[in-house]
Amino acid sequence: MRNTKNIVSLSFAALALLITLALAPSPAPAADAQPLTLRVDAAKPGPAISPTMYGIFFEDINFAGDGGMYPELISNRSFEFREPMLDWKWELRGGAFGSLRLMDNGGLNPNNPHYLRIQVETAGGGYGVTNEGFRGVGVEKGKTYDFSLYARSVDGKPVAVQALVEGATGGKAYGSAKVEGFTKEWKKFSAPVTVSATDAKARFVLLVQGLGTLDVDMISLFPRETFQQRPGGLRADLAQKLKELKPGFMRFPGGCIVEGNQLDNRYRWKETIGDLAERKLNWNRWNDWGKVPDYYQSYGLGFYEFFQLCEDIGAEPLPIVNCGMSCQFEGKELVPLDQLGPYIQDMLDLIEFANGPATSTWGAKRAAMGHPAPFNMKMLGVGNEQWSEQYFKRYAIFYKELKAKHPEIKLVTGSGPDPSGDKFDFAWSYFKKNPTDLVDEHFYRPPQWFFDNAHRYDTYDRNGAKVFAGEYAAHTGGTGAVNAQGPGTARRNTLEAALAEAAFLTHVERNADVVQMASYAPLLANIEVTQWAPDLIWFDHFHSFGTPSYYVQQLFSVNKGTRVLPLTIEGQKEGRGSALREILYAVASRDEKSGDLILKVVNPSKARKEARIALSGVEGVKPRGEATVLASKSLTDQNSLENPKKVAPVTKPVEGAGSSFRFTFDPYSMTVLRLKTK
Ligand code: AHR
Repeated sequence: MRNTKNIVSLSFAALALLITLALAPSPAPAADAQPLTLRVDAAKPGPAISPTMYGIFFEDINFAGDGGMYPELISNRSFEFREPMLDWKWELRGGAFGSLRLMDNGGLNPNNPHYLRIQVETAGGGYGVTNEGFRGVGVEKGKTYDFSLYARSVDGKPVAVQALVEGATGGKAYGSAKVEGFTKEWKKFSAPVTVSATDAKARFVLLVQGLGTLDVDMISLFPRETFQQRPGGLRADLAQKLKELKPGFMRFPGGCIVEGNQLDNRYRWKETIGDLAERKLNWNRWNDWGKVPDYYQSYGLGFYEFFQLCEDIGAEPLPIVNCGMSCQFEGKELVPLDQLGPYIQDMLDLIEFANGPATSTWGAKRAAMGHPAPFNMKMLGVGNEQWSEQYFKRYAIFYKELKAKHPEIKLVTGSGPDPSGDKFDFAWSYFKKNPTDLVDEHFYRPPQWFFDNAHRYDTYDRNGAKVFAGEYAAHTGGTGAVNAQGPGTARRNTLEAALAEAAFLTHVERNADVVQMASYAPLLANIEVTQWAPDLIWFDHFHSFGTPSYYVQQLFSVNKGTRVLPLTIEGQKEGRGSALREILYAVASRDEKSGDLILKVVNPSKARKEARIALSGVEGVKPRGEATVLASKSLTDQNSLENPKKVAPVTKPVEGAGSSFRFTFDPYSMTVLRLKTK
């Protein structure tokens, strides 16, 4: 898109240039220009819009899981990091003295072998450890946090454990709790801590008081307040933001995380369910890229929680399983074709876990976790963005097995990392020859690509495989840190990026017979720990905000309607020759339940655009409608923690609507017009 630079100070030369530009004529109308008219024919409804059209894609990147949606405040709570004492430091109070030993025999269970032995030799005020959480233990005044740990006495001496939350440099504790009564067997102890101050950078202190030796593991400090008030549940503001997107589906757990950089750290869903202490910690493949050595997956947010979240927010679950390959850019490991058995079994067992009766092996595990009823999963994916024969040879085996045993489940297939080129063409040549349900296409491209490719799906085979636009985001250009938020333009969540995505989505929806699902990526980013930008939602310890792209996704999702209506735009082109471009990007639909006519229109230019809306084939359009507009002054405008709604939709009434009326589309805007019919 056009002029994106923020002009901060003007030199004389720059000023002269600006004056010249201001005097230059605005893009000329095309030679055959007609007045701008959006003509909708409601008598000839087009394709149905899938209820799953707009969804979300969750991956634990940018501290989206641990350090984000899963609000545990203690990092490395089970001492299972590759460096088992990472994020822990020793601590003593009031003349205490003792020793710490990391142990790996006699632990809680084989999945959680390490624990800490704390021996107090001089009692003083207590001896133990501190933890700084996920870039600080973020606590809020007046809130309650549940402290818990597993502990056992080594020598039978009566010691107590004091848990404290305090400022990073000590001082008066914001809150504390005490547990005691340890025996020689591992047992879970817990106590609430209510804190007296808000501090994003607090620390947690665990002190053993008295003389004796204690083994400790699974040390946790967890907010009492969670989404749907579930103990050990998800961070409320983030889950609520997902719910407010009204997602039709949720794809999880990734992304590259499914593949692992090596097979060794691929995602294994079976290790993410059941008792928390038995979930097997995995290192996060994004810890290397971002040089974040303490980025792991505790799996407190595991497959059960994903399914439960889907249910809570009304999204169809779309889990992705590993196809017997690690990342083809990195580890490049392949499971031999004749050794795929366990991987295929994982897929089949997953179906039983999600949908099987509570009496089945895996259904019983789901029931034991609190959900005897099936989750009613209807689709799954095999592989992430893999490519070439290596992938399709493996994928074909999964496909055959799945369709033989579960023809009711739709299969999502990868088409590689790019939206065009050799890998992509190879994939589509496969889909043309083989039965395929849904093809997952990924595109991270500059904003202009989204405008230039808005008509991408117009030429797709209407009888071929359906498309899942599974990962997309407009990446603004320029130089700058990939993981930055705030001022600057490189890979930022600007209005420009959001409008480019919106323009593209108008045509995705117009092609609803081909594209059945779409999701932006990535979904979440912790402002302090980011490996990838832009992202849909940003957060710190206490707050979160939706980007302009978030509002685009939301506007499409809540205003999708059920059926596309034919729409033509007259007077649609301006400029000349190679600069000839479309003025508006738009889609019309009808919501057959409410009878509403919906027009979603993107005006990416800096000029107001007045148009006539002409509706035919519909009776009694009511004069009062509604316009929801997402716009801002500059294409570089972004939201932030300080100004979370700088670019946010505003709804206003539309007067004088009817079968023909005029409407003015704001500069740099996306507008949703909802018109009531009798
Ligand atoms: O969304 C970030 C990454 O982009 C995903 O993990 C991967 O599928 C793609 O390359």
